[in-house]
Amino acid sequence: MSRPAKSIHGQWSSRWTFILAATGSAVGLGNIWKFPYIAGENGGGAFVLVYLLCIACIGIPLMMAEIMIGRRGRQNPVNSLRSIAEEENKPRYWRYLGWSGVLAGFLILSYYSVIAGQAMAYIFRSFSGVFEGVTADGARSIYSALTGDPERLLAWHTVFMVFTMVIVARGVKGGLEKSVKFLMPALLVILLLLVGFSANTGDYFNQAIDFLFKPDFSKLTGEGVLIAMGHAFFTLSLGMGAIMVYGSYLPKNTSIAKVSITISIADTMVALLAGLAIFPLVFANGLETGAGPGLIFQTLPIAFGHMAGGAFFGGMFFLLLVFAAWSSAISLIEPAIAWLVENKSISRRRASVYAGFATWLLGLLTVFSFNIGSHWILFGKTMFELLDYLTANIMLPLGGLAIAIFSGWIMSQNSTQEEFAIEYPVFYRLWRILIRYITPAAVSIVFLNVIGIVG
Ligand code: PHE
Repeated sequence: MSRPAKSIHGQWSSRWTFILAATGSAVGLGNIWKFPYIAGENGGGAFVLVYLLCIACIGIPLMMAEIMIGRRGRQNPVNSLRSIAEEENKPRYWRYLGWSGVLAGFLILSYYSVIAGQAMAYIFRSFSGVFEGVTADGARSIYSALTGDPERLLAWHTVFMVFTMVIVARGVKGGLEKSVKFLMPALLVILLLLVGFSANTGDYFNQAIDFLFKPDFSKLTGEGVLIAMGHAFFTLSLGMGAIMVYGSYLPKNTSIAKVSITISIADTMVALLAGLAIFPLVFANGLETGAGPGLIFQTLPIAFGHMAGGAFFGGMFFLLLVFAAWSSAISLIEPAIAWLVENKSISRRRASVYAGFATWLLGLLTVFSFNIGSHWILFGKTMFELLDYLTANIMLPLGGLAIAIFSGWIMSQNSTQEEFAIEYPVFYRLWRILIRYITPAAVSIVFLNVIGIVG
């Protein structure tokens, strides 16, 4: 199969739209909900440092590789990988890499939607003033009342999935471009407001800075390193084809290096700001850094409950968080949709219904893992924890490893040079070293360490 010059789904109207959409994919629950709680569970500073190193040495080169493959293939990840492999006279089984991405996106969205649903519930809790003057205990019990009730979680999960699939059915451009342009900057403003509020806690703010930025390697385990690396993939939406599929709608004359660096910096900033907003509250209220997935839901209401106009700002914050989650959710399911439309010749609308329903159904596992199914344990993990671990810490890094090998070793130097023709030559050379040696070596060593073979 040869590759079309243009994707059948159309192209982004400009380089900026791509940057916004890809940033919309990257910035989401991963930054605001997940990063603070896993940093808290894994001891802070050293974990954060490893995470930052992974963004720089693994994340950015891989993002460049994914965009490049998508733009060269101009189709869904499965077909793009296949047609590029064919063109290079390499085996077609590389398309299975596209498949594993489609699967990972579907698995992630199933639990992502349940957490986004919790954020949705919090929009209404906040606007209605429930958090006014709330104490740490109060915030904790409001959260457990929500997660302990399967019906409510199910209802919000359903609402989130329906909204997501409606936007997906309308096409990437219609729904996405507009929402990202206005909502992301607004989210940033409220985040800054929260950091400002937390900065007023004085010493606790310094304590939070120490916690996040003073590495104490005695607190970091091999497993923690894997989680930090996995999160670098998760937060940048790498290793599963989301960025690849967006790259397939990218015009030729765009600098891939520049957009990748821009997106990665924006994404990292949001995560660090979230950490700076949350940890001072954790320390000021005697909460535990290792509180787990409920961390933002148990800390931020305290801030909103004690600031002027807090009910409004809180409501807006959770509203914008839900929008950020939406723009990520869309990209999680887009590889599957693009594949269904291109290969099965069904309409976008129908593809959305099928994929959405399947994801919703699988999401029930996560809904119940917070309540009636909290004792369904496999490999020492609840269903939600298992889905998260399997995707973020195993599937995405393995997918990323394969993408690195594909772009560094399977694709000829001529082809990659052609795609990166407009980049500074030194960028290209650096990229090729990173993607051929550093990325594969780093991912492999972290894995071997956790399995117990190295270290
Ligand atoms: N990057 C998104 C976030 O941080 C999640 C995501 C992962 C989206 C993988 C797409 C692909 O919330």
